[in-house]
Amino acid sequence: MPTKPKVFVTRQIMDSGIRLLQKSCLVKVYPKDQIIPREEILKGVKWGDALLCLLTDKIDQEVIDANPNLKVISNYAIGFNNIDVRYATQKGIPVTNTPGRAIVDAVAEHTFALMLAVCRRIAEADRFIRAGKYHGWEPQLLMGMELVGKTIGIVGLGRIGSGVARRAVALGMKVVYHDVKRNPWFEKEFTARYCSLSELLKTADLVSLHVPLLPTTHHLIGKKELSLMKKTAYLINTSRGPVVDEKALIQALKRKQIAGAGLDVYEFEPKLAAGLTKLDNVVLTPHTASATVEARSEMSLDAAENILAVLRGKKPPFLVNPEMYGK
Ligand code: GLV
Repeated sequence: MPTKPKVFVTRQIMDSGIRLLQKSCLVKVYPKDQIIPREEILKGVKWGDALLCLLTDKIDQEVIDANPNLKVISNYAIGFNNIDVRYATQKGIPVTNTPGRAIVDAVAEHTFALMLAVCRRIAEADRFIRAGKYHGWEPQLLMGMELVGKTIGIVGLGRIGSGVARRAVALGMKVVYHDVKRNPWFEKEFTARYCSLSELLKTADLVSLHVPLLPTTHHLIGKKELSLMKKTAYLINTSRGPVVDEKALIQALKRKQIAGAGLDVYEFEPKLAAGLTKLDNVVLTPHTASATVEARSEMSLDAAENILAVLRGKKPPFLVNPEMYGK
């Protein structure tokens, strides 16, 4: 009987994908519910033919070199800045991610959860009540900003950025966007206006970030960019923390240079820059934008299907380095 291929998984994930893998592979999951230590990931990679890893795992040259026969690196995330993709490509290893329908919807919805929470001061109001400060209706208690009629500035028009735009239009918002590429279809469909990043920052009432983390997007939003935003505007980040210079953001929030921020990602996760949690005009979530049962279960299946395709000599459904298949 031919031996089954071996798949190493760096942490317990929803079991839809694990069960699928178990039908034809030998699957080992790192058993502790914590970020896998370096030596354990090296051991696991050596053992497996395939690696299923998370955005919290740094997959660098040392990890990739730990197994010269590694066949595929399957990331359980849309973002893949945790992986040295260039090196994996050099070594002939396909790298895959999980940008399925459910994760796109989950992150787009979470973007609105943050927007509404910060604009309507939901977290602040919740803290207010729990602190026993609510003594009855007041005409000017915790007034916020409505979304209807406001302009959203979408930075990065991938699938999540487009999903946010669609929802914004449904809520009666106007859309401006910036991306490395213009999208005429999108502009027509959503009456969206393309503009430079600086014009977007000057125009938008809500700036929402949806770019991948690349050398060109590191600190895309820093002191200068924040100074271009309206005093009444909000910044929402559900992309990657280092896209924003977190120290500059805290300064801008403290000086009331902008009205507030809704953040799901942080520059040095899980650490937060000093002072962030002291600010009332921010709403913070712990990188949970894709944390829905629907999204996480689809991600588990997609990560498994990516692996199975490669092991069967087929092109995986969500490939990050298309050069691997002659493109
Ligand atoms: C989450 O941040 C992801 O990239 O999937």
